[in-house]
Amino acid sequence: MDRLRVIGGIPLQGEITISGAKNAALPIMAASLLSEGEVILSRVPYLADITTMAHLLMHCGLDLSMPSATPGSFGYSLSLKPSGKAITDAPYDLVRKMRASILVLGPLVTKYGRATVSMPGGCAIGTRPIDLHLKGLERLGATVTLEGGDVQVTAPKGLHGADVTFPFITVTGTANLMMAATLAKGTTRIINAAKEPEVVDLAKFLNAMGAKISGVGTETMTIEGVSMLGGCTHAIIPDRIETGTYIAAAGITNGDLELIGADLDMLSVVKGELIDAGMLFEATSRGVRVCRADKNKPLRSINIKTEPYPGFPTDLQAQIMTLMTVAQGTSTVTETIFENRFMHVAELLRMGANVQIHGSSAVVTGVERLKGAPVMATDLRASASLVIAGLAAEGETIINRIYHLDRGYEMMETKLNNCGASIERIV
Ligand code: EPU
Repeated sequence: MDRLRVIGGIPLQGEITISGAKNAALPIMAASLLSEGEVILSRVPYLADITTMAHLLMHCGLDLSMPSATPGSFGYSLSLKPSGKAITDAPYDLVRKMRASILVLGPLVTKYGRATVSMPGGCAIGTRPIDLHLKGLERLGATVTLEGGDVQVTAPKGLHGADVTFPFITVTGTANLMMAATLAKGTTRIINAAKEPEVVDLAKFLNAMGAKISGVGTETMTIEGVSMLGGCTHAIIPDRIETGTYIAAAGITNGDLELIGADLDMLSVVKGELIDAGMLFEATSRGVRVCRADKNKPLRSINIKTEPYPGFPTDLQAQIMTLMTVAQGTSTVTETIFENRFMHVAELLRMGANVQIHGSSAVVTGVERLKGAPVMATDLRASASLVIAGLAAEGETIINRIYHLDRGYEMMETKLNNCGASIERIV
């Protein structure tokens, strides 16, 4: 299994191109199942999760052409078009690899009147049920049964519009329902809808295919069903979580990075917190420059609490906590989205961090320096946080089980090494 060897202590200098957002590309690819024509997507990141989704969509009957990525370049264009055959089951083998496979449920059931998707199991960051996706589909007239670990959803006469109120915000739940409602008869309102930029990008894509969705990015989204959707072209938004990860890398190494294509409007809460911590952001003609405001001083502690968008994203909690392990003072990091998203803490402790967990909060007291150590990556964002820790630590950090990183960060070690980091993949 691949490991990373990181030699820490080098301030990062240079530029990093931000890739297309994984969590926008995945639902948009799944939504291509709805189209009667060819869809062309650009800025699709080259990632293991994208390949898994591509295999699933080919299994479901889409023709995909996926030119192999040119070494050294980021992202690629992807063409997706219906092949004429429709297979409406998503087998366990593919769903097991990636929870986001559940995103084919809404498109398949609304287009073909049936879908079978293996129930996704638990994952490192929590149990992550899909009850809200299923209740929402039932509100649109579908029948849901659980059979041998598979969720079977049927609507032989098609779906109909309805009001669906989510008791709390679910990102892929909103995406699934929105996709299902595009071809339902009548009007659907999703109340307490997710406002994440990735959901907004999906709605933009669906509207370009001919859907009628309004109120996107607000509490209530309205979808008027249409009879069919056609082809379109769409560029995936830049990845705000990748952007935040490299901001943390610049801060912890006392480096100076230009993040090409970054859009900080999607990260305004994170930006505000990091300015309080002592980071400096400067717009450039190609993106944003980021470094410490005073390179002779350590960063200051901050308190963060994860929340649905526009709040502080849970997908940056581990990386910013890592940044705080070397900030002056005591920070509190509260996780409200997932019940088990402090897996990185035990590994950071091995590197000399001072973190104490009290229920859903972690109290981080800054230390002068982290120390390299062998550590274990447990999920995607925890893995990224260990790379960030390794970049700042004294000596060598070996990160085991880095397959998680390849699921969500396009060419991470190449991007960082281009800015002076010393990261080597060892087998
Ligand atoms: N939840 C339920 N029932 C449901 C759906 C969700 O109880 O039917 C709970 C979850 O267990 C969780 C909370 O609701 O406690 C919020 O989960 P949400 O549904 O919003 O998460 P998700 O849609 O499964 C997406 C991202 C995650 C990101 C979260 C929160 C994708 C493919 N995944 O997951 O990304 O952390 O939203 O922003 O978009 C990552 O990229 O590393 C990642 C985990």
